[in-house]
Amino acid sequence: MVLGVAGYAVFVYSFLPLGSLVHPEMKVSFMANKIGIYSHIFASSVALVIGPLQFSTKLRQKHTNVHRWLGRVYLGVGILIGGVSGLYMSQFAFGGLVGKLGFASLALLWLYTGLSAYLAVRRGDISEHRKWMIRNFSLTLAAVTLRIYLSASMVAGFEFTKAYMVIAWLCWVPNIVFAEWRLRFNIAKNKALQRASG
Ligand code: HEM
Repeated sequence: MVLGVAGYAVFVYSFLPLGSLVHPEMKVSFMANKIGIYSHIFASSVALVIGPLQFSTKLRQKHTNVHRWLGRVYLGVGILIGGVSGLYMSQFAFGGLVGKLGFASLALLWLYTGLSAYLAVRRGDISEHRKWMIRNFSLTLAAVTLRIYLSASMVAGFEFTKAYMVIAWLCWVPNIVFAEWRLRFNIAKNKALQRASG
C-alpha cells in the first residue's frame, strides 16, 4: 500500500499537469503554491517508502549503518521537509477550517513525534526511540488511510466537501490511537511476562 500511494503520487506529480486529478479548488491552491505542494509530495513519499524498512529487525541488526542512514533520510527529508511543507499547505487545505485544522494538527504531531524519536536516539534511549518511531510512522500512514477513506466515501456516494472535512481527521486519529494502544498493550504484556517468570 505504501508503494502504491507513493508510486502513484510520484508518477502523477512528475508526469501530469499539476492538479489534474484533484478537486478544482485544490488545483487553484496547488497552482498558487507550487513549491509547497511539490516539496510536500516528493519529500513525504520518501518517508512513506523508507518507513517500513526501518522496522525490519534483520536490517537493524545486520546492517546498522544502513538503518542509520535511511533513518537520517526519513527524518531529514521525509518528516522535516514533508512535515514543514505539509504544515504550510494546511492553510490552503480543502474542507474549510475543520479540514485545515485536521491537516495542521497532523503536521505538527508528525514533526513532534519525529523530533522526539531523533532526540531519544541521540541520547541512546533505544526503547523510547522505537516508541516514538511507531507513533510517527502511524502518522505517515495517514497518506494511505486518507486515500482508503476517500475512495470508500466516493463509493458510498458521500458529498466530497463534507467527506474531506471528516477525513482530514479520520486519516490519522485512529492510526495514532491504535499505535498508542499497541504500545501500552505490549508494555502491560511484557510486565506480566516478567512477573510470571519471577
Ligand atoms: C503525515 C503528514 C502529512 C500532512 C500534514 C499532509 C498534508 C497535506 C495537505 C495539507 C495537502 C493539501 C490538501 C488540500 O489542498 O486539500 C496534502 C496533499 C497531498 N499530500 Fe500530504 N500530508 C501528509 C503526508 C503525506 C504523505 C506521507 C504523502 C505521500 C505520498 C502525501 C502526499 C500528498 C499528495 C499526493 C497530496 C496531493 C493531493 C492528492 O493528489 O491526493 N502526504 N497533504
